[in-house]
Amino acid sequence: MKRDLISMHDLKAEDIQVYLDTAARVETISLKDRFQLLQGKIMASLFFEASTRTRLSFEAAMYRLGGNVIGFAEQAATSVSKGESFSDTIHTVESYSDVIVIRHPKEGTSRHAAQISYLPVINAGDGTNQHPTQTLLDLYTIIKNFKKIEGLRIAFVGDLKYSRTVHSLLQALIKFRVNEFMLVSPESLRLPEYLKRVKTDFPVTFVETKNLEDAIPYADIIYMTRIQRERFPDQIEYEKVKDAFCLNAGMLKNAPEQLKVLHPLPRVNEIAPDVDETPHAEYFRQAKNGLIMRQAILLNVFEVKI
Ligand code: CP
Repeated sequence: MKRDLISMHDLKAEDIQVYLDTAARVETISLKDRFQLLQGKIMASLFFEASTRTRLSFEAAMYRLGGNVIGFAEQAATSVSKGESFSDTIHTVESYSDVIVIRHPKEGTSRHAAQISYLPVINAGDGTNQHPTQTLLDLYTIIKNFKKIEGLRIAFVGDLKYSRTVHSLLQALIKFRVNEFMLVSPESLRLPEYLKRVKTDFPVTFVETKNLEDAIPYADIIYMTRIQRERFPDQIEYEKVKDAFCLNAGMLKNAPEQLKVLHPLPRVNEIAPDVDETPHAEYFRQAKNGLIMRQAILLNVFEVKI
C-alpha cells in the first residue's frame, strides 16, 4: 500500500510517533551516510501556491538523502495555465517521479491527487484545510523543548479560522491527549466549530479570548499565526483585523521561563523583531526542524528503515 500523508485526521498517535522517532534518528546519521538513503529516487515538487520553507526544505531534504527533485514553484509556469486539467497534470508527473509533494490553494486537492495517482502523495498545504508536514515539525519542536506533549498548555493566536497549520496541529495535539487550549482571535477569525467537536474519551476545553496578554501567564506554548490576506474573500474584512495582535519583547518580560513562542512563518507584523532576541523565540529553530522532519517523512514514504 502506498504511503500518502494527507491529513492528521488519518493518523493515530502511534503513527505520528513513528515520524517523530525517525526524525530523531535522522539527526544521528552523518550527511555522508544519509546521502545513500534515497539514491535514484525522484520527488515531484508541485507548488500551485507560494512557499519558502515548505518547498525549499522538502527539496533540500530530498537532496540531503541523495535523491533528485523536479517540479515548479508556481502554477503560471505549468501547462495548467494553458488549460490542462489537474488530473492530466498529476498523471503526467507520475510518469516522471516516485513521490509527489503538492501545495494547492484549494482544500481537498492533495486528497484528490492521492486518489487518482498510484504514487505516494504528500500534502504540503491545501487551502485552509491541512498542513500535516508542518504539524509533524511543530510536534518535533515541541518534543525537543518539553520532552512531552500531553499536559502542555497551548494558546493559538491570530487567524484560527483559515489557518491550516492550526487546524492540523490542534487535531494532532488532541490525539496526544492535550485537553485544554486557549484560542486568541478576533471574533471574525474564530476556530471553526467542527474542530471543537472532537470525539475523545476525555473532556477537551477551549478558553476563548480576544486578548493576547491572557495567553502569556497561561501557556507553555504560544502558537502565533499570520492574519492571511490571501484567504479573505473581502479585503475590507482583512483591513479590520490585520493588526489585531502584535507580540513584543516587553509583553514577555514577566513570562514564565519555559514559555516558547512558535510560528509556522512567514510572519508579517504579529511578532515584533525584538522577540527574536528573547529566550522564548523558537520559530527559527522550528523552521530548521522542518528539514529534519521532511527527511523523516520521505524515508517513511519509501519505507527506508534507519
Ligand atoms: N510554514 C510554511 O508553510 O511556510 P511557507 O509558506 O514558506 O512554506
